[in-house]
Amino acid sequence: MRRKIAIIGAGNVGTTTAQLIAERDLADVVLIDIVEGIPQGKALDIQEACPLWNSEAKVWGTNDFREIGDSDIVVVTAGLARKPGMSRDDLLQANAEIIKDIAVKIREVNPECIVIVVTNPMDAMTQITQRVSEFPPERVIGMGGVLDSSRMRTFIALETGSHPEDVRALVLGGHGDLMVPLPRFTEVKGRPITEVLDEEKIKKIVERTRNGGAEIVGLLKTGSAYYAPAASVVEMVENIFEIKDEIIPCSVFLRGEYGIDGVYTGVPVRLYAQGVKEIVELDLTEEEKKALFESSLAVKRLVEKISL
Ligand code: NAI
Ligand code: 2OP
Repeated sequence: MRRKIAIIGAGNVGTTTAQLIAERDLADVVLIDIVEGIPQGKALDIQEACPLWNSEAKVWGTNDFREIGDSDIVVVTAGLARKPGMSRDDLLQANAEIIKDIAVKIREVNPECIVIVVTNPMDAMTQITQRVSEFPPERVIGMGGVLDSSRMRTFIALETGSHPEDVRALVLGGHGDLMVPLPRFTEVKGRPITEVLDEEKIKKIVERTRNGGAEIVGLLKTGSAYYAPAASVVEMVENIFEIKDEIIPCSVFLRGEYGIDGVYTGVPVRLYAQGVKEIVELDLTEEEKKALFESSLAVKRLVEKISL
């Protein structure tokens, strides 16, 4: 049977994700948005490209949330971007209201699906989605670490002139200012990054990774990144569909792993058809553990600000 993915939010990240899924013929895709015409028009445009991609995917758009039904995966990209005069807290509350409403709809229409949350602040929104949907935490997963790690790999590949495939990098923690890039788990062609680049260059790459989202916003001025975020969602989809079996950083609910309890934070995981198969516990130094804990604490504080 063909797989189906519902994407909620037919904005930049949602439609680019739909395009990549259709192009690779990974599943049929329904784009859902509150704005009339946008999901329908964008989906039809993607559908009309499918013959050129030799893809059988069916792609359609709707404003009817019942179309979430019988999807294997629901990707949540709906939300507001920060506008002038809006504080981070205003954005948090506004997106939390949208996310709560969507979580209720997902629970009502498709209680068996796996949910990937993209909307920012992502780790907190993932936790709210899990709480409101009452899904097992293994079926609600946040996208952030795959993107942050891909950004770090990019900067290292550009700096060293290496093929990105030869570069491994790992960024853990919440998808925010306190994310935790880990140079100790970073390699170029199997050689530790410390043997390839000097300390100053590594420091700059770590900083650029932390500011990766802001760097794109600064250039675009009217929105945030979407090509790499969409590709990161697809990486998670391919692992959930068991086309790949990789250890990738995702935001998951921790119950004591890494000394963190009761909060969503980015850690290395393996995904499968039922969601999170395994949380991989790396042997971190005390300093790395502390940074990860601080990052998770920032997520916890955000979640506490949201009234349920
Ligand atoms: P966008 O503004 O292009 O699209 C958002 C879409 O959500 C709009 O089409 C809007 O009509 C729709 N929407 C709003 N309320 C809705 C509702 N209740 N139901 C259905 N649709 C609704 O924004 P973009 O660039 O696609 O980003 C989406 C979200 O993803 C933002 O919160 C952004 O910060 C976040 N993001 C997170 C990343 C991550 O790594 N976790 C990376 C990139 C973006
Ligand atoms: C990013 O990192 C905005 O979270 C988004 O690009």
